[in-house]
Amino acid sequence: MIKFRRESFDSSILKREVYKMYLSRPLRDESAIITQLRKISADSIFCFSTFAPQNIAALEKLGFSLVTIRNTYRFQGLLVKTKSLLKGFRVVADKGILAKLTVADINRLADAIGSMSRYYRDPKILRSNARAIYRNWITNSLYHGYADQCFAILKGDLLVALITIKLRQRTGYIDLLGVVPQFQKKGLGAYLVQHCLQYLNREGFTDIRVITEGENVAANILYQKNNFVINAVELVYHKHFKNF
Ligand SMILES: CC(C)(COP(=O)(O)OP(=O)(O)OC[C@H]1O[C@@H](n2cnc3c(N)ncnc32)[C@H](O)[C@@H]1OP(=O)(O)O)[C@@H](O)C(=O)NCCC(=O)NCCS
Repeated sequence: MIKFRRESFDSSILKREVYKMYLSRPLRDESAIITQLRKISADSIFCFSTFAPQNIAALEKLGFSLVTIRNTYRFQGLLVKTKSLLKGFRVVADKGILAKLTVADINRLADAIGSMSRYYRDPKILRSNARAIYRNWITNSLYHGYADQCFAILKGDLLVALITIKLRQRTGYIDLLGVVPQFQKKGLGAYLVQHCLQYLNREGFTDIRVITEGENVAANILYQKNNFVINAVELVYHKHFKNF
């Protein structure tokens, strides 16, 4: 009922012991969490809980703070008509071209994505650390095999948008999606989602999922407009046992 997993990526960047805790069912009370917490030595816990009044009561009693809700969407299998790409922009997946992206470009995009995240929303987490998580996440996705496929939109040589995909058995996950602020609301996000859906379709993936935070209105609208439907909603709580 309670699952704990040490999060090595977050732990290394935040330089503390970070665990994820999953509460997929309603708890009787907080005692089960206390028992589990005694078995690990955590500095921070990020908890993902099903919406259950018992869990909310237990987590709040133990001093966990609600930082966001997260929506898991599933694609309904109907591709909407693909948007055309504005003149002067091109989509690339070529590793040689992606290898030439500048650090400044990658960081600009990482900061745009990260600024919408629960790491930014948590006042206890330093902004520099929140930024580092997304900068590393994109770099690992592009160059160190964390993602199975990446599509970038370039204007000339400038990176303006990116989508990354992870493939697990029969499921395709949209992992990161972002458009730099200057080029948002021009159809680039929708173009990348549709491009990615076509790719997954061709590769035979029928189960396609994406997770986004409830506060992210733009992303929620974008996925809903592309025939994604919410499959699960979880409450996300953070608790820090040690000051940063
Ligand atoms: C979410 C994001 C990728 C959307 O990309 P975008 O290129 O700006 O979006 P598009 O121009 O393709 O818009 C697609 C649809 O989303 C909706 N939308 C986009 N931005 C919106 C906003 N700020 N508010 C409300 N709706 C918005 C529009 O309805 C639009 O459809 P329409 O053009 O038919 O009206 C972009 O805002 C972004 O990079 N945000 C920061 C990172 C992020 O939140 N990533 C998603 C994490 S899962």
